[in-house]
Amino acid sequence: MRFAPSILTADLSRLKEAIEEAEAAGVDWIHLDVMDGIFVPNLTFGPILVEAVRRVTALPLDVHLMIVNPERYLEDFAQAGADIITVHFEATPHAHRAVQRVKELGKKAGLAINPATPLAAFEALLPELDLALLMSVNPGFGGQRYIPQSTERLRRLKAMRDALNPGCLLEVDGGINRSTVGEVYLAGADVAVAGSALFNDRPVGENLRELKAALYAFGGG
Ligand code: DX5
Ligand code: ZN
Repeated sequence: MRFAPSILTADLSRLKEAIEEAEAAGVDWIHLDVMDGIFVPNLTFGPILVEAVRRVTALPLDVHLMIVNPERYLEDFAQAGADIITVHFEATPHAHRAVQRVKELGKKAGLAINPATPLAAFEALLPELDLALLMSVNPGFGGQRYIPQSTERLRRLKAMRDALNPGCLLEVDGGINRSTVGEVYLAGADVAVAGSALFNDRPVGENLRELKAALYAFGGG
């Protein structure tokens, strides 16, 4: 399984060091949570921070847009150096157009859904997607508890993915830690986002080792 640490819970006053430590520890992607205070009740950052992160790492940048009408900013995030751009199904009446635009910009396209959104939201677009992101908390904040029903949703989404587009990666986001990483792996997640479990007051290398040890205990790798 791939790990994508979210910088949301990193010490932003030393972001460069945090990312370098994560890269040295062996994480796979860097996950960037963009919030607009409207789609979610929190504000974070925009393309200028993505651009700054681009300058300090060669890892794929996985940009998760929690903003309304994300089509307004796709070009900006592409130019800032995003590799994967994920929009929320609930954030635009034109998710199909947004996904097409991301692909036109030469980037990998993701679609995300919230915990209350039916999985059927993925059906029409799955054949077009590089990434399907299942939220396992309500988006907006790091450090929330994993919603247990997410495991069954992930299992069903995996079946849908296997049938419609086996090349699409399944990503799970929210509340992933030593106690939940095994079950999301068994349910079919290819990529786990982890914020507070990786970026906290302990070294990210130690945190990653523990997370991987918990995963191996479930037969994962
Ligand atoms: C939530 C974000 C997540 C979150 C993950 O809105 O999309 O990426 O920061 O943080 P943890 O792992 O602490 O739940
Ligand atoms: Zn996220």
